Amino acid sequence: MFSADLYSHRRQRLKADVGSGLILFLGNRPSPINAPDNCHFFRQDSSFLYFWGIDLPDLAAVIDVEADTETVFGEDLSMDEVIWSGPQPSLHERCRGVGVDRSAPSSQLSAIVAEAIKGGRPVHFLPPYRMDQTMQVAGLCSMDPAAVAGNTSTPLIRAVIRQRSVKSDAEVAQLEAALAINAVMQTTAMRMATPGRYEREVVGQIEGLAYGRSGRKPPFGTIFSIEGQTLHNRRHDNLMQAGRLAICDCGAESPMGYASDTTRTIPVGGRFSGRQKEIYEIVLGMQADALAAMKPGIPYKDVHQIAARRLSSDLKDLGLIRGDVDRVVQAGAYALFFPHGLGHMLGLDVHDMECLGEDHVGYTQEIRRDSRFGIDRLRLAKPLAPGFVVTVEPGIYFIPQLVQQWRNENRFSDLIDYGKLESYLDFGGVRIEDDVQITSTGATVLGPPIPKTVAAVESCCRG
Ligand code: GLY
Repeated sequence: MFSADLYSHRRQRLKADVGSGLILFLGNRPSPINAPDNCHFFRQDSSFLYFWGIDLPDLAAVIDVEADTETVFGEDLSMDEVIWSGPQPSLHERCRGVGVDRSAPSSQLSAIVAEAIKGGRPVHFLPPYRMDQTMQVAGLCSMDPAAVAGNTSTPLIRAVIRQRSVKSDAEVAQLEAALAINAVMQTTAMRMATPGRYEREVVGQIEGLAYGRSGRKPPFGTIFSIEGQTLHNRRHDNLMQAGRLAICDCGAESPMGYASDTTRTIPVGGRFSGRQKEIYEIVLGMQADALAAMKPGIPYKDVHQIAARRLSSDLKDLGLIRGDVDRVVQAGAYALFFPHGLGHMLGLDVHDMECLGEDHVGYTQEIRRDSRFGIDRLRLAKPLAPGFVVTVEPGIYFIPQLVQQWRNENRFSDLIDYGKLESYLDFGGVRIEDDVQITSTGATVLGPPIPKTVAAVESCCRG
């Protein structure tokens, strides 16, 4: 946990930013798998964790801006819970650890919210992303559950994003800790990517490493697949064969819940073919160009286009793209090969703050979401600022169904050589991803180096 002063400071800033009313936070509740007593690994809501620091289920918290009070609502353990789950510090003790003086039973929360509503005071809450939270907000605010999404507080959302977007040194240290685990996961995957193994054997091993090293589950379902052309392929049933490329997109959480998210592309059996090397080097070049451009002030959308330009120019050299490279980028023809965004913010969530609304997090009044295919999936487009931590994850994919569709539609047939593309349809995909901190002058790749050049990956695969 961070210091009590730090959590107090965050809440003070939030109070000043929001300005009036009650600010209501709902922590997460246990999430049953198949029966009430058999739950998924508990994961606290990230904004609750950020402002209140207590990593336990069934809590809520309120800042009363005018009264200048902060209260955490929850219960101490019953004897039955002590018997089954073990003793724990009292809620009051936990609150003191995060600079909060007041705690109260959960049963008192509804009266406090009701009184504020009766007095015409605003009750600010963040967008719920679980049905039980939606029902809880609806109950507390006497609202139709269907109306909850439309009544979330934009001032609160913006104030939370302002704070959480800029990572302090202590937060960066957590991200580095998550990346140290991630590096071991990636190098283990490289060594295990051998013909005759099932993908799931690799996934089981590396997810175990994540849990074993931090006591926390990975921040997202591991993507490890020789069918890398499927961007978020979460099936792990393939038997690996020599000559295939395996995409390994995985992460770990630090002990305090900060996420890492890296991707490497691994030749099964440890040697890239000539063609694989060509495509791999282009993706490396896309990432290098992006990293070189990243600094405060540049919109991340522009960085995405820089990577797209490199792809277009290099695939033109290979003969897959033809015509004017600027037109290829402008028209969005490159997205046949790169149909996702260059990256997203990273922090307590893998897509940091995604639950607050991607457009709030990644866009501004001036930079609106682009509707063109591919770049429409860009999660972060706004200007970079010191303290942002973002992923940089270019890729090139050969998606047979998409190629077929574009070809049938004659889409960009002046810019794409569909004939030449035929022989790539069994290629799969390449993605390379690192986590990057924006500094006052540029950008720094965080974490220990993870093998990335062709030579380094091959050497790691060989053990
Ligand atoms: N690395 C997985 C994701 O960005 O969703």
